[in-house]
Amino acid sequence: MRFFSALLPVFTLAASSVVAQHAFILAPADQTQVAAGSGFDVSIAQPNSISSWENIALVIGLLNCAAQLDSDGNCLGTNQGLGTILYNGPFNPVLVQGAPPNQNFTLTVPTGFQKGASQLGVALFDLIGARFIPSLQTFNTTIIVT
Ligand SMILES: *[C@@H]1O[C@H](CO)[C@@H](O)[C@H](O)[C@H]1NC(C)=O
Ligand SMILES: *[C@@H]1O[C@H](CO)[C@@H](O)[C@H](O)[C@H]1NC(C)=O
Repeated sequence: MRFFSALLPVFTLAASSVVAQHAFILAPADQTQVAAGSGFDVSIAQPNSISSWENIALVIGLLNCAAQLDSDGNCLGTNQGLGTILYNGPFNPVLVQGAPPNQNFTLTVPTGFQKGASQLGVALFDLIGARFIPSLQTFNTTIIVT
């Protein structure tokens, strides 16, 4: 432990300049309509940053809003539940012209999925900086299942 404590000030300094890579949903646009049983394209973007990071896993889920409301009558929120998991796997965004680095996924709304406003929720687990600080981000948009 004594050995590590000598290095601690260096790590503390490094950590203060570490910023999480804020990924976001490039597509589909908010309120996009998708029929139950059909495929749709989801694009997740992750801008570059000066700090290093390593993506570990991405999960994309779909949660019907009317069936899952919080006490204020809003859709639960991604940190309260992802619902039906549509994707669970690696996230390897690539640089493309005219957009932040992103990865496209063709996903399918399950047949018989309840119609109406649904939260398309994303959770990204990554490790940030030289010390690999664990970080979990969640974000979402709304699609309308028809
Ligand atoms: C993802 O799809 C969008 C829209 O079709 C496209 O502009 C973008 O280049 C694609 N991204 C990758 C990494 O292929
Ligand atoms: C998604 O996230 C935003 C904040 O970015 C929030 O305002 C919204 O209510 C969330 N839920 C849905 C279903 O889009």
